[in-house]
Amino acid sequence: MLPQLLPTRRDFAGDDLIFTLNARAQKRAAEGVPVINATIGALYDDAGKLVVLDTVMEQWQQLTNAEVAPYAPIGGDQTYLLNLVQRHWPTLTSIGVGVAAPGGSGALALTLKNFLDRGDTVLTAAPYWGPYSTLAAEVGMTLATVPYPDVQTGIDIGAWEAACRDILEAQGRLLVWLNDPCHNPTGRSFTKADRAALMDVLRDVSSQGPVTFVLDLAYLDYARDPQQVREALDDYAAFAQEGHVLVGACLSLSKAYTLYGARAGALVFPWTTDSALHGALITSCRGTWSNCARSPMSVLNRISKDPALQAKLEAEHAHWRTLLATRATALDAALRAQGLAGCAYDGGFFVTLDGGADPDATCEKMQAHDVFVIPLPEGLRVGICAMREADVSKFAAAYKASL
Ligand SMILES: Cc1ncc(COP(=O)(O)O)c(C=O)c1O
Repeated sequence: MLPQLLPTRRDFAGDDLIFTLNARAQKRAAEGVPVINATIGALYDDAGKLVVLDTVMEQWQQLTNAEVAPYAPIGGDQTYLLNLVQRHWPTLTSIGVGVAAPGGSGALALTLKNFLDRGDTVLTAAPYWGPYSTLAAEVGMTLATVPYPDVQTGIDIGAWEAACRDILEAQGRLLVWLNDPCHNPTGRSFTKADRAALMDVLRDVSSQGPVTFVLDLAYLDYARDPQQVREALDDYAAFAQEGHVLVGACLSLSKAYTLYGARAGALVFPWTTDSALHGALITSCRGTWSNCARSPMSVLNRISKDPALQAKLEAEHAHWRTLLATRATALDAALRAQGLAGCAYDGGFFVTLDGGADPDATCEKMQAHDVFVIPLPEGLRVGICAMREADVSKFAAAYKASL
């Protein structure tokens, strides 16, 4: 007999849909059928091979025993944390409060455990990365959403304010996750005006109760325009320094270093030195994974201290972000050539297209053309990270025929 399971865990279907659709695409490909598998969430080159950054792997292969084997400190290696913070905010000279986590996922989980209680609600923009709801469900919490800013009309700031105030009224505190810039799955970033409006609301509502604003930064190295990422991070830093809202960031080496399987990341709050927060995070680390893998921390430390390696890595990132932007531009043109709306793209691995009246049905119909995408309530997630530029016309034709 099974022991009594928690309903939130028992009932959650997880990533089954992505696995199912990906497996279907792979089965067809194994049969020799030319498929377009846009269900994938990792970067592939035009030959269909997983992209692994040479600069990173060369350092990984040189790691010494001492850089691999010993336990890392519970909260993570301090040099690693500072290097990771400075990858995002180069002028910062201290970590503030931060701990290592197994990827951005681990960092997100830590925010739920430390800022909310069972039964509480975390707020984000929809569409969102599917595991957000798993993370919330797993700890008996709910994910509430407001619409991601519309391409034409921008942020629905009224919806944000209402949601923030409702949550604060119900639970006395607010946690917001924002995957910006380079959003999964829309492939877009907040404009300066969207960002300013959201920060105004968060500042205003913070008079109602404590607000924690957590940036989920997973795809920044793959922005169409790196300067826009810099501006966004600087705006968020300036907002954090005001001190009305606690601002933190979930950082990850999964995409940045193509070290998906190494499970490296961190949760950082660079603009506070609150020792109670640090203690709480350390307790959570010890109480869940104890400490994180030392090898990826050592690789980051090696690259961070060597300007030549940094330049080499930057050149690799520039190559791949150009490829992604080229794919997005080509897809946009192919969609327009079919008389459809194009696809906006600022960065990351995905774009989201209109799913028609029923995204599930549209996705099913596209499969008849051997084109595989992920249906969302808000549309179709298309992994340009795994779609060749040469396939965009076939993709657009199959999509049009399926709407
Ligand atoms: C939006 C977003 N946040 C966070 C993550 C976390 O990735 P990881 O746990 O591998 O760092 C991902 C991975 O796909 C993501 O897409």
